[in-house]
Amino acid sequence: MLTLIKDSADNKTASFSSVDLDDSGLLLLLDKIFFDKGYDFRGYKKTSVRRRIKRRMQLNNIETYERYMEFLDLSHLEYQRLFDDLTIKVTSFFRDNHPFYVIKNRIMPDIINNLPSQPFNEIRIWCPGCATGEEPYSIGMLLSDVLKDNMGRFNIRIFGTDISEAALENARLGIYEPSAFKEMKEEYKNRYFFPVGSKYRIKYSVRQLVRYGIQSLVRHTPISRLDLLLCRNVLIYFDRGLQEKALRDFYYALKPGGYLVLGKSEVIMSEFRDAFREIDREARIYQKKG
Ligand SMILES: C[S@@+](CC[C@H](N)C(=O)[O-])C[C@H]1O[C@@H](n2cnc3c(N)ncnc32)[C@H](O)[C@@H]1O
Repeated sequence: MLTLIKDSADNKTASFSSVDLDDSGLLLLLDKIFFDKGYDFRGYKKTSVRRRIKRRMQLNNIETYERYMEFLDLSHLEYQRLFDDLTIKVTSFFRDNHPFYVIKNRIMPDIINNLPSQPFNEIRIWCPGCATGEEPYSIGMLLSDVLKDNMGRFNIRIFGTDISEAALENARLGIYEPSAFKEMKEEYKNRYFFPVGSKYRIKYSVRQLVRYGIQSLVRHTPISRLDLLLCRNVLIYFDRGLQEKALRDFYYALKPGGYLVLGKSEVIMSEFRDAFREIDREARIYQKKG
């Protein structure tokens, strides 16, 4: 509101004042979402957050942020739809494929070889922003492949976390449409899934390897003492400050020598080059130094 008054007093052009109004209105709306629901989108990239909110406003024939905030107070369903649009949950088994090849053939053998020689060694893996569970289950299938009959000799803990409870419920259920398998080898589907009507359910042997829970990369304590951390296609939605916070958290969450895997269009910024060494550029795999 203050911005509007200042702009008209300064006689600025209409288009400039509307951009300013957009930004202050957007910040007010993001504050409201945080204080009402505890979801903190304030450190996300403004362009994509604004685009998604504007789409919701257009669908509801609402022209101002003020009116949209009033509408949110009246409609629980609209709040839910807005949250769903702000949390993009696109994923699939073995998404982008190549990193999983490197994880299976290079990273997992290295993790296993470097464990102390004692029974029931723990292997700890975390997938923050796991959406509906395809990524942690892909890792579970790979580990089963690598360890084969030795699975029982390890204490395997794969953590799948997200801010969307609805996505996590689907992950726990582990039932998937055929479209989730577009990047997965048929032999994995035959070995690790069974049909349920027109869908497929992941077998208990893999399902029981993964624990799902709510965790926000903005607000909550990270999971610690990790051998491997996959955070793919989540940081792209964060602004630079929040990306830096997440990468700092990941650094402390990993064991020395632990591995970090980012998404195809995500890279480690230059200030983290002393903390991580690049293992495979194409696969976006890094190793914590030390
Ligand atoms: C595009 S999906 C990525 C899924 C999977 N990692 C992959 O690459 O296929 C992004 C996920 O990040 C989650 N997400 C968004 N903000 C988050 C936050 N602050 N903390 C944890 N997860 C978040 C969303 O709910 C969504 O499920």
